[in-house]
Amino acid sequence: MKEQLQALESEALAKVETASSLQELQGVRVAYLGKKGPITEVLRGMGKLSAEERPVIGELANKVRGNIAAAIDEKKAGIEAEQLEKQLEEEQIDVTLPGRPVAVGGPHLLTSIVEEIEDLFIGLGFEIREGPEVETDYFNFEALNLPKGHPARDMQDSFYITEDLLLRTHTSPVQARTMNAMENKQPVKMICPGKVYRRDTDDATHSHQFTQIEGLYVDKNVRMSDLKGVLDRFAKHMFGEDREIRLRPSFFPFTEPSVEMDISCKMCNGKGCSVCKRTGWIEILGAGMVHPRVLEMAGYDPKVYSGFAFGMGPERIAMLKYGVDDIRHFYTNDLRFLKQYHKA
Ligand code: PHE
Repeated sequence: MKEQLQALESEALAKVETASSLQELQGVRVAYLGKKGPITEVLRGMGKLSAEERPVIGELANKVRGNIAAAIDEKKAGIEAEQLEKQLEEEQIDVTLPGRPVAVGGPHLLTSIVEEIEDLFIGLGFEIREGPEVETDYFNFEALNLPKGHPARDMQDSFYITEDLLLRTHTSPVQARTMNAMENKQPVKMICPGKVYRRDTDDATHSHQFTQIEGLYVDKNVRMSDLKGVLDRFAKHMFGEDREIRLRPSFFPFTEPSVEMDISCKMCNGKGCSVCKRTGWIEILGAGMVHPRVLEMAGYDPKVYSGFAFGMGPERIAMLKYGVDDIRHFYTNDLRFLKQYHKA
């Protein structure tokens, strides 16, 4: 029996040694140490042994079993380590590979235009101001010399929230607000970019919501020629040094006199083409000398102070500058449109 056990031991150890996978190893474990294995078989026959032999064989059988189990465990650890090594080798990450690029956004065309205009006016000494989009009837109309029932209100059909509150139809209320807020009625030199709303049906050139930039300069001795000089600089800065401007008489209740500014058409150099409707000129903005009533309502003495104001639409300016043919492109946010204006 002793020889039998020793033979089983060396046989099993040899099989453990040659096993090359965890599966194979498990097979050896089941075959030698399992309930139906030869060692259990030997132990079962111990009843036939003498009283002296029994503990000796018992001890040996346990030892053989322990040795085989230890050999299996050791081999198992070896195979597992090998497998891990192999896996690490195969799944190695090359940290020197270039990363996947992250798509980077860029400023919206409208944002770029507004910033370009802001930069120019900051350079000319203007401050940036803001005002609320939900505006009172007083600041949107009355403080601008548009009393209730004034026919010129029709030009700016509005979204009313209450009798007295509406979505502002232009950025001109910020003129009145800025002058009103000025302590000791000091000079004002500001521009105000922002969203405005009108009850228009959207099409290629109309939108119920668009952007305006208001400009206001109030001081002693501000003259029409100052307005013309600033607008001329603006036109040349935005559309090229070879552009000319002209001021046409117009009407706004809050300016007197009022003008509309045209620039000479870039397409035909003033000769007349389809873009300028054969006139050689393109309308850009409205402006004028601040109406004495508007100054007075804001607390400025019109005998001491004078000022000019202008209002323009950045969408229109972007459309002319870049040949955008539909104002809706600014809001539908088609990336194919937007990406054309991203600077690298
Ligand atoms: N607020 C006028 C408009 O929306 C534009 C304007 C502003 C005209 C300032 C004159 C002076 O049409």
